[in-house]
Amino acid sequence: MRIIKCRDYEDMSRKAANLIGALVTGRPDCVLGLATGSTPLGIYASLIRRYESGDLDFSAVKSVNLDEYRGLGEQDPQSYRYYMRENFFRHINIRPENTHLPDGLEPDSEKACADYDAVIASMGGVDLQLLGLGHDGHIGFNEPNDFFDKETHCVDLAPMTIEANKRFFASADEVPRQAYTMGIAAIMRAGCVLLAVSGKDKAQILKEALTGPVTPRVPASALQFHPHLIVAADADALSLF
Ligand code: GLP
Repeated sequence: MRIIKCRDYEDMSRKAANLIGALVTGRPDCVLGLATGSTPLGIYASLIRRYESGDLDFSAVKSVNLDEYRGLGEQDPQSYRYYMRENFFRHINIRPENTHLPDGLEPDSEKACADYDAVIASMGGVDLQLLGLGHDGHIGFNEPNDFFDKETHCVDLAPMTIEANKRFFASADEVPRQAYTMGIAAIMRAGCVLLAVSGKDKAQILKEALTGPVTPRVPASALQFHPHLIVAADADALSLF
């Protein structure tokens, strides 16, 4: 595990974007595993700036996202498909057909999950998986559980997650109760995992995830076993180290 200590959110965003940019430069047809939430917004903004200045070309890049709310489609401003389009994809030259998220509108959850596993498999491996960290230790939407869910599955969101994510919705009642998420085994198969963490409110869970016992009660703790884990975290998030 390598920990990149960053001054603040901006610094973390630029350094994480440097790593992703280096991969895209060195392997123009790489597969990026992408994440949503507030944390990656600065990373995407930084990558967009590099694209605009002519330093990055995404025309052959493929992407797979971690998760999607069950029941939300691409026209819904709260869906992760919408988030990715508005915050990243429409500003760069990635081909829409090369971008993938679970289908939130597929009502048959077994089919939605099997279909997404097939998409991930067809990529031939994720080169770099970007992750944020939930307050309860979730990655993607892999919530604390009695076991590590391996592949794509439908998950009931934890009350803490609904509470944290209600800021994107009119009220907590409107936050979907379920999501489709890539599993822990799929995340662990990525060639490299880049965990981006910012803020004092993540300090405790980051410490637990990286130095505590490896347990499905803290899903991110599985990352301790990843052979190529890079943590880009700011001083606030690393304040308990
Ligand atoms: C959401 C997403 C995760 C994300 C997490 C943290 O629930 N499904 O992929 O990492 O929240 O979000 P934030 O970066 O906004 O704290």
